Amino acid sequence: MEKIAGTTAFVTGGASGIGLAIAAALIEEGARVMIADVNQAALDRAVLGLGPSAAAFCLDVRDRDGWADARHAVEARFGPVDILINNAGIGPDGHALADMDAVSFDRMVAIKLTGTFNGIAAFGARMRARGSGHIVNTASMAGLMAIPKLGAYTAAKFAVVGMSEVLRAEMAPHGIGVSVLCPGLVRTNLGVNTQLAGSDRIVPDQSSAEAGLDAAVVGALVIEGIRTNAMHIITHGDGRRYVEKRMARVLAAFDCVPVHAANAPT
Ligand SMILES: NC(=O)c1ccc[n+]([C@@H]2O[C@H](COP(=O)([O-])OP(=O)(O)OC[C@H]3O[C@@H](n4cnc5c(N)ncnc54)[C@H](O)[C@@H]3O)[C@@H](O)[C@H]2O)c1
Repeated sequence: MEKIAGTTAFVTGGASGIGLAIAAALIEEGARVMIADVNQAALDRAVLGLGPSAAAFCLDVRDRDGWADARHAVEARFGPVDILINNAGIGPDGHALADMDAVSFDRMVAIKLTGTFNGIAAFGARMRARGSGHIVNTASMAGLMAIPKLGAYTAAKFAVVGMSEVLRAEMAPHGIGVSVLCPGLVRTNLGVNTQLAGSDRIVPDQSSAEAGLDAAVVGALVIEGIRTNAMHIITHGDGRRYVEKRMARVLAAFDCVPVHAANAPT
């Protein structure tokens, strides 16, 4: 999507961190943006800072009725949504999978994976009917590499990458672009907000107010990704060698295919 000026965008997790930076970057480009978040106080602060091209909607991305209300609200305020940013998320709790509380696992999948699906379900068919638009799903570098003690997070993020790749193939014939954002460490409030979401988070250094890339840089990269319809939006070059190693292992497994199966139809 080359022209962002004049479009309507809907950004989940838009009251803080990466979502807020994406919202600000979209407004800078001339879009009208509804930010959605579960944290009403943060929404109020954020929308004030973003100015008159922004509006706020209190939404838990797990709540499907809430998504229907959000769609009505954004369409009434700004018109049909052209750009959907499924970004809301919480951080990992740092347990090994074998020790992880099932409630914690379910929470991660519900917010990050099902929440992303809920956004696609709310807006995808309408975008397709109009024949234009762009969807960005925020995954993580943890959606491209396996990181011990980040099991549920990694599982949900891999799933978001896979779902985004499927969505891209499905939407391309209808003029809709799809990108998946895979950041490394970004300076946000993820740690604090993860605890607010009820997680007994035990990895304090995964993301903090002091560490990581400036979220504004991520916002600018997302604008570029929307413009060029990038499949993967990568923010940190240092993940490359891990991804290369992982893909090399996957490709090496193909070399071990038994002769009788090597030429089987795929
Ligand atoms: N910060 C990092 O280093 C980093 C790295 C890779 C990926 N990410 C991903 O980026 C996304 C944004 O995270 P961030 O780092 O900006 O953190 P953040 O905590 O600053 O922002 C996340 C926002 O999502 C909101 N949120 C949480 N649960 C929600 C729910 N159920 N419904 C609606 N909103 C909800 C929070 O209230 C918060 O405002 C997340 O998906 C996160 O996994 C972050």
